[in-house]
Amino acid sequence: MTKHAVTYELIKECPRSGARLGRLHTPHGTFETPMFMPVGTQATVKTLAPEELYDMGSQVILSNTYHLFLRPGHELVRKAGGLHKFMNYKRGMLTDSGGFQVFSLGAMRKITEEGVMFRSHIDGSKQFLSPEVSTQVQEALGADIAMAFDECIPYPADFDYAKRSTERTTRWAKRCLETHTREDQSMFGIVQGGMYPELRRMSVQQLTELDFAGYGIGGLSVGEPKSMMYDILSHTTELMPKDKARYLMGVGTADCIVEAVNLGVDMFDCVFPTRVARNGTAMTHTGRLVVRNATYAEDFRPIEEGCDCYACRNFSRAYIRHLFKAEEIFGLRLLSIHNLHFLLHFAKEIREAIANDCFPEFRERFLENYR
Ligand code: GUN
Ligand code: ZN
Repeated sequence: MTKHAVTYELIKECPRSGARLGRLHTPHGTFETPMFMPVGTQATVKTLAPEELYDMGSQVILSNTYHLFLRPGHELVRKAGGLHKFMNYKRGMLTDSGGFQVFSLGAMRKITEEGVMFRSHIDGSKQFLSPEVSTQVQEALGADIAMAFDECIPYPADFDYAKRSTERTTRWAKRCLETHTREDQSMFGIVQGGMYPELRRMSVQQLTELDFAGYGIGGLSVGEPKSMMYDILSHTTELMPKDKARYLMGVGTADCIVEAVNLGVDMFDCVFPTRVARNGTAMTHTGRLVVRNATYAEDFRPIEEGCDCYACRNFSRAYIRHLFKAEEIFGLRLLSIHNLHFLLHFAKEIREAIANDCFPEFRERFLENYR
């Protein structure tokens, strides 16, 4: 067994649900789970400074191998002293392996046992990512957590394809571990298996035989109905080791987070809060609020009553709506601040509910109010 740079400490299990309270120990500090990780795809959480993220309680943030590999290039980030120094973020960082982005962004791509050939979305140039390349790039970026290079199986996919892909993801995961050398960085494996319970079981079994520091759950929220996602998720987390962190990749609406915590998930990331902010939508405890709508033209209340984010403490719906109408970039910033604060604060509410033995009641109450 290797000594991992990143470890998960289970603090408390909710006796009436699958919810867990824990701590993630990393070279850049100890962080509390369940946690939401803001996404900084291109070495920036769009429109926000690191200090603003700290003020909102941001702990670990996520960045992407695919994007940084293509621009500015991992060797440049290495020269800068790594991603932490390059973007001046001092808390935890995780990099996704690039597999998912190659599959979802790359128009032209060819998967072989060796890796994936694809064309850059920036200049159309031919590029190649493999378990070895992804691992080396992630070592150059130097986040606390690197993710294994996997294939996110599309939905729907037939059983034979899903099986072959999941087995390849296991072989790729082994090659990632064999390549990985950085002792101040840990790697998480990624469970796949599509929507097939027996393949999820196989994936968990094969990956837990390898010595990963934690586990991503991939291939969910890819267009399947929510009920199917919760079924597969429930089946998957039941089989996963209790002493390692569980990270549901790419999921980040409040209802999905509370349901996934209920099923035993510890970590989340999603571009949703910052993406919808940029088209004028706010996330609240009662659902989405489209602040661009005419309804809010003379509404001088904050986005969400009781929210103590910078935007809600200082500005009205009417003002933010005006900024969007006038295409002023401050509007994007204010909604990004509110939405990220909302999810970071929501994760904190979940942790407090687990600590106070009332997570099931918290979940019920939240889902009743949320539409
Ligand atoms: N982000 C969302 N889903 C996935 C997945 O299945 N794999 C990876 N690497 N990243 C993801
Ligand atoms: Zn707010």
